[in-house]
Amino acid sequence: MVDVNKETPEVVGSRAALRQLWEGAAHFIRPVVYLSHNTTSRLGVVLTSTSAVTILLTYGFQLYGYAPNPYAGILIFLILPGLFVAGLILIPVGIIRDFRRHRRLGTLPLSYPTIDFRDRRLRQTAMFVTFMTAINVPIFAIASYRGTVYMDSVRFCGMTCHTVMQPEYTAYQRSPHARVPCVDCHIGPGASWFVRSKLSGSYQVFAVSFDLYPRPIPVPVHNLRPARATCEECHWPEKFSGDKLVVKPKFGDDEKNSETESVLLMHIGGRNPARKLVGIHGAHLGLVTYIASDDKRQKIPWVSHRAEDGTETDYVSTDNPPKPDLVEHGERRLMDCMDCHNRPSHTFLMPEDAVNREMAVGRISSSLPFVHKVGVELLKRDYSSRLAAQTELPEALREYYRKNYFAIYNSQRAQIEQAATALVYIYDGNVFPEMHITWGSYANNLGHMDFPGCFRCHDGNHQSKDGRAIPQDCNTCHSLLAMDETHPKILQELGEGN
Ligand code: HEC
Ligand code: HEC
Ligand code: HEC
Ligand code: HEC
Ligand code: HEC
Repeated sequence: MVDVNKETPEVVGSRAALRQLWEGAAHFIRPVVYLSHNTTSRLGVVLTSTSAVTILLTYGFQLYGYAPNPYAGILIFLILPGLFVAGLILIPVGIIRDFRRHRRLGTLPLSYPTIDFRDRRLRQTAMFVTFMTAINVPIFAIASYRGTVYMDSVRFCGMTCHTVMQPEYTAYQRSPHARVPCVDCHIGPGASWFVRSKLSGSYQVFAVSFDLYPRPIPVPVHNLRPARATCEECHWPEKFSGDKLVVKPKFGDDEKNSETESVLLMHIGGRNPARKLVGIHGAHLGLVTYIASDDKRQKIPWVSHRAEDGTETDYVSTDNPPKPDLVEHGERRLMDCMDCHNRPSHTFLMPEDAVNREMAVGRISSSLPFVHKVGVELLKRDYSSRLAAQTELPEALREYYRKNYFAIYNSQRAQIEQAATALVYIYDGNVFPEMHITWGSYANNLGHMDFPGCFRCHDGNHQSKDGRAIPQDCNTCHSLLAMDETHPKILQELGEGN
């Protein structure tokens, strides 16, 4: 039987040790508690306890499956801990200041009072902290929630880091996807993307705050959601089939800005009614894998194609053969939408193309002599900033007509002003000196005129062992119904000509 009333020597010994430890600690704690009855330290305690409780609550909710929207990460992982640390710093700051004050006034106690809740000042501090924390937790929680809703918005993504995102935001607003929120393509719902975006999102806030980001922002974006989870939410591949008529108007560099047109019948394809994969979309999706030898995926020396019956064919570039090491260890990428449509919502144009478009819709009048040539030249000039371009470019256009076509300068003043406005609009959408973005900084893979695009593989020099090449025949991807023709007959036949 053990006598419960009689303590064994070990228990007594460990009690004594504990008491000693407590007294040792109290030796430090008493002055801390005594000196912390000041506004700064109290604020620090409130800040620390409030952010700690809010953080714990959010984590608790997450454990129970509540998935806050993606950018909540910045708040939960960056801002709240920041406030927590700030609070921790405020406490000693207040203590040290109080200590100095007491020392100066000679009011430091000889020995610090024991910690006792009967002490009025201690009770005051404790009540203050409890009261403020109770008020602050709901305020913090609501602010966090409102904050993350805001951060999920297009305005935040596009405008908060103004200079950084200005190029993409501007191009985005002019794109067919101007109503698709940034986060739908860049971050989507789902737990693993939530975690990834939290990490990269938090890093981005650091990068912008400390000016660590590269200019221009590099492609490809590696933490983009896979096409299957983004594009295919709205455009499912089975939906495509058939051809699409594309008319490309072009204006010449002569005085009359002579207009010609190319007419292409794009073989979009997909799955045809007989369930066979055909055309541009049918030929690649899920079937073509490649290895790029550069970061921007512009050089592709190795390609593999799996036919629907399962036979695989490897194609290797003959003018730029891949190193054996690259074929062994390089990243093999299964082609998806983004390998062709890499600029679905941030399409930057080339100056010729942009001027052609504005002329085709009449915002730049082709009745102005040489306006195509001069417009393109003015767009390609170096301006010190976007602001400078906004005044210098229109002035240079006016000057051109004042000097060379004075009669027109007088009679067509309105058209000249309208053309100037259109040129500034083009410049503003494509050139961002602050981000080192100029004409052609971002390659567009959909085509083969300004950038390698389709011809990264379809250059006729990617050959298989048995001597077949990835086709470059001009009618593989489109039927060229007209190429740079004035009033193409085909458009008149289709009833679209003028
Ligand atoms: C329709 C889908 C989509 C939408 C909507 C979208 N993006 Fe993108 N974004 C992309 C793709 C695709 C890329 C290029 C990825 C690549 O080449 O690897 C990209 C690239 C970027 C880049 C890298 C630099 C560059 O120009 O390639 C930034 C920055 C960016 N987007 C910001 C934004 C912002 C800000 C918004 C909202 C205002 C937005 N994006 C909306 C699909 C989208
Ligand atoms: C939220 C829905 C949505 C998502 C996600 C989306 N799109 Fe679209 N996309 C649209 C709509 C709507 C249009 C038609 C706009 C129009 O006709 O002006 C469109 C148009 C297009 C066009 C035709 C553009 C043109 O100039 O005619 C292409 C190409 C395209 N999308 C590709 C993509 C790709 C690639 C992705 C993935 C990165 C994507 N889309 C993601 C809704 C979406
Ligand atoms: C091999 C390159 C390639 C791939 C991969 C690809 N596309 Fe396309 N897509 C094209 C081309 C080329 C066009 C025609 C563009 C034009 O001239 O307007 C096109 C046209 C489109 C259009 C417009 C169709 C229309 O009738 O106006 C949409 C939408 C589109 N693609 C979405 C997608 C989506 C979504 C994916 C991924 C599932 C995808 N594409 C994959 C090359 C590709
Ligand atoms: C990464 C390499 C690669 C890129 C980039 C690429 N393709 Fe292809 N493409 C292939 C391969 C491989 C095949 C299949 C060749 C075969 O039949 O073995 C193919 C086949 C095709 C076919 C079917 C040809 C036929 O005879 O059936 C069309 C059409 C096509 N591609 C259009 C395009 C267009 C348009 C683009 C650019 C928007 C493009 N491709 C970009 C690799 C590529
Ligand atoms: C692998 C597919 C493919 C092949 C092969 C191909 N093209 Fe194209 N071509 C395209 C695509 C994609 C576009 C872009 C359509 C668009 O911008 O809507 C294009 C656009 C064009 C344009 C209009 C460009 C513009 O901006 O005015 C012309 C002209 C053209 N191609 C001529 C040719 C000729 C000539 C050949 C043969 C040497 C050829 N293409 C071979 C895919 C191809």
